[in-house]
Amino acid sequence: MAQEVRGVIAPGKDEPVRIETIVVPDPGPGEAVVRIQACGVCHTDLHYKQSGITDEFPFLLGHEAAGVVEQVGPGVTDVVPGDFVILNWRAVCGRCRACLRGRPWYCFDTHNARQKMTLTDGTELAPALGIGAFAEKTLVAAGQCTKVDPAVSPQVAGLLGCGVMAGIGAALNTGGVTRGDSVAVIGCGGVGDAAIAGAHLAGAAKIIAVDIDDRKLETARGMGATHTVNSRTTDPIEAIRELTGGFGADVVIEAVGRPETYTQAFYARDLAGTVVLVGVPTPEMKLELPLLDVFGRGGALKSSWYGDCLPSRDFPMLIDLHLQGRLALDKFVTETIRLDEVEKAFERMHHGDVLRSVVVL
Ligand code: APR
Ligand code: ZN
Ligand code: ZN
Repeated sequence: MAQEVRGVIAPGKDEPVRIETIVVPDPGPGEAVVRIQACGVCHTDLHYKQSGITDEFPFLLGHEAAGVVEQVGPGVTDVVPGDFVILNWRAVCGRCRACLRGRPWYCFDTHNARQKMTLTDGTELAPALGIGAFAEKTLVAAGQCTKVDPAVSPQVAGLLGCGVMAGIGAALNTGGVTRGDSVAVIGCGGVGDAAIAGAHLAGAAKIIAVDIDDRKLETARGMGATHTVNSRTTDPIEAIRELTGGFGADVVIEAVGRPETYTQAFYARDLAGTVVLVGVPTPEMKLELPLLDVFGRGGALKSSWYGDCLPSRDFPMLIDLHLQGRLALDKFVTETIRLDEVEKAFERMHHGDVLRSVVVL
């Protein structure tokens, strides 16, 4: 029997979000219905609402979520009803060229539920990132459910599903940060702060946080930054070089997604160092760099998609580290809100007041 639940939809471009009754079908083969306990508010949800991703309105928003598996469809063996899971948007296929090369974190054929959730009049909903978790229940592919230790609070766990994983993974997986490294992070929102937490976890010796907002730099210190630079008043390239013996950082993580900040990252890294771009640029942005500098400075210029994470490998490990007190994921939760407060949370996000507002159900 299909179920009716409450969920937050974006009805059309720039229209306020609203709560609607959502029809969640019974899970088909390879699918699962998850009772959502918490779901963070991410910039990507706002981009959906602003029609910055696709125009397939109405969207069922929300994708940084944790909850309990309620029902599974035929053939599902990895999770069973009652399992506590974090939802991911990288259910890997195991068959594409990336998976076959043993690099499933690049999987080029990730999947979501086949069936559609709808409004009561039958209008099909497009779930954000194939998840749609600002809802009491949602339908996903079983591979989007990653089991973790249920001792963790859902509001903390859900954040690993997107932005926080992107940041931690940018440092650990893409940047390969290791003990003793010097690391600079440009842009200290949720993603940049998570990169700082990741660098701290890996044992980086120096972690330099760069932002244009002193409040963000203050928070970054709490995440493990050893030095802070306000790039509105101080040249960040000079400052990072000065803090690293005149050389630049081993790994510079760009968590803004703009040509200016990318250029800063490029020149603030040591020779043969690594730049990681985790901030997401917009289509019209262009980058201009002397090709001789690209060659002459050596090293690696990398992009990090979803922190190059493999949910089945990374989520349980990071939750365990959190439960052991070695990764303060709870610091990313600025406030918990109700389902009917998502619109307000978008406004607060826009003003830069919060790292994460988390809807608790
Ligand atoms: N230089 C330094 N910091 C900047 C600059 C700049 N020119 N412009 C903005 N920032 C800072 C902001 O002050 C803020 O602290 O970058 C941070 C961006 O944080 P958020 O807006 O909270 O974004 P976040 O969720 O961290 O995502 C950052 O990563 O995944 C992507 O789509 C996401 O592109 C976005 C980026
Ligand atoms: Zn694949
Ligand atoms: Zn997100």
